[in-house]
Formats: sequence, C-alpha cells, structure tokens
Amino acid sequence: MTGPWKLACALLPWRGLHGSGQLCRARSGADHQWLARHLRDPFVKAAKAECYRCRSAFKLLALDDKYQLLRPGLRVLDCGAAPGAWSQVAVQRVNAAGADSGAAIGSVLGVDLLHISPLKGATFLCPADVTDPSTFQRIRELLPGGRADVLLSDMAPNATGIRQLDHDKLISLCLTLLAQAPTILCCGGTFLFKTWAGSQSQWLQKQLAEDFRSVRVVKPAASRKDSAELYFLATQYRRGKDSGKG
Ligand SMILES: C[S@@+](CC[C@H](N)C(=O)[O-])C[C@H]1O[C@@H](n2cnc3c(N)ncnc32)[C@H](O)[C@@H]1O
Repeated sequence: MTGPWKLACALLPWRGLHGSGQLCRARSGADHQWLARHLRDPFVKAAKAECYRCRSAFKLLALDDKYQLLRPGLRVLDCGAAPGAWSQVAVQRVNAAGADSGAAIGSVLGVDLLHISPLKGATFLCPADVTDPSTFQRIRELLPGGRADVLLSDMAPNATGIRQLDHDKLISLCLTLLAQAPTILCCGGTFLFKTWAGSQSQWLQKQLAEDFRSVRVVKPAASRKDSAELYFLATQYRRGKDSGKG
C-alpha cells in the first residue's frame, strides 16, 4: 500500500466507513477524490487531534454550543451512534462518566446496526435496528426511568445514489423515531435528527410542529455545503407524559 492510501489508513482509524479496511479497499476515481478532500478537511484533522472517533463530533458540538441541548444530568438516546463520536460529545456534555464531581451525572445510550467500541460513560445497544420494535423494548429497559430527555439521530441508511430514494429511506427512519417518541421522550424533551433535503422535508417539518413547540432546520459548519444533509432540531416536546425520573 502506497501514497495517500497508506497515510489515510494510518491517520483515520475512525472514519465514516467504519474501518480502515473498508477505506483501504476503496480505490475508484471517486474514492480518490473523496480521500483527497477528506485529508484536507479541517474537521478530520481536528477530530484526530481531539481524539473524536469521527468528524461528525463537530456537528453536534456546534449545535450544542449554539442551542444548549445537552447539560449535566440529562439522559441521551443516540440513534445511529457508530462509530461513537456523537456519544463521545454527549458523554462529556451530560457528565455521563462523572468527570465533573460537582455536577449531576447524566446517561448516554447509543444504538446502531454496527458494532460500537466501548466508551466510558456510554451504554451501547448493538447490533440493533431501530426499525425492529424489539429494539425499542430494550431501549426503554436500558434508559434510566425508561425515558430520554434528548433523542439524537445521525442515522443514515446505505445511500443508493438515487436522491429521491435515499431521501425517502431516511425520512422513513425519522418517522420511526417520531412514532416511538411518545414512549421514550419525556415532556419538554429535544429531538435532533439528520435528514437529506427532499420532497418530504416540509411535510415532516409540519408533523414535528404538531408535537414540538419549536422546530428549526439547521446545518452546522461541519456539514458539507455540497451535501443534502440537514438537521431538524425540535425542542419542547408536548406529548411525553412526564420526565420519568424518580
Ligand atoms: C453517519 S453514521 C453516524 C455517525 C455517528 N453520529 C458518530 O458521530 O459517530 C450513521 C449510522 O446510522 C446507522 N444506521 C442506519 N440505519 C440504522 C438503523 N435502522 N438502526 C440503527 N442504526 C442505523 C448506520 O449503521 C451508521 O453507523
């Protein structure tokens, strides 16, 4: 193995393809372009320097800095958590590992189809598919008090490259979470999730507005400008019955 591939495999143990082996097999022209951009990307460099498992950590960090979604003591459910960068951020911000002895201790539960390496302060349910109802039964058992204060989803189905189909598949995953929200999200809770912009985005925004007092569409700096990726940030959930605490 030579050149940029060798460098990439050495530099990027936690890349988006979830494994340097997969990276090192990818050698088409498009992959070369992707790799060149990846190696220039300041968020990739920062993730490496700050020991985050992937660059997506900076999306959640930026959104949390701006909207204060996470604070010590909160319970976070992180759907599509692999390789674990959002969970790393959540563990820090809700004090799930107890690093701040003077602050309330929160919790982080991550779920993914893929294996996730252990992380102090987080519990991982994997492999697990959020479209399987038995996964939500396990989630309710694992969440303290059976509920989350913050529901995160950076889930992304395997992209086909057919924009409408990929959009529909991701919307369907979001709707699965929205349908489960009454049973896992507490009243006043927050729901942050990724979508790919498309024909159903506005309709989804309207659905969210029925259940949440505030709904925003946000795009953090680490989300590439040329990507259809957008995040919906819905706060102050109206439907969850109580906090589930105590
Ligand atoms: C972009 S990655 C998430 C990156 C993660 N936020 C981080 O910071 O490390 C998207 C993840 O969604 C997961 N995913 C897709 N469909 C899923 C499903 N039905 N159930 C659970 N996880 C799913 C994929 O396996 C993939 O690991």
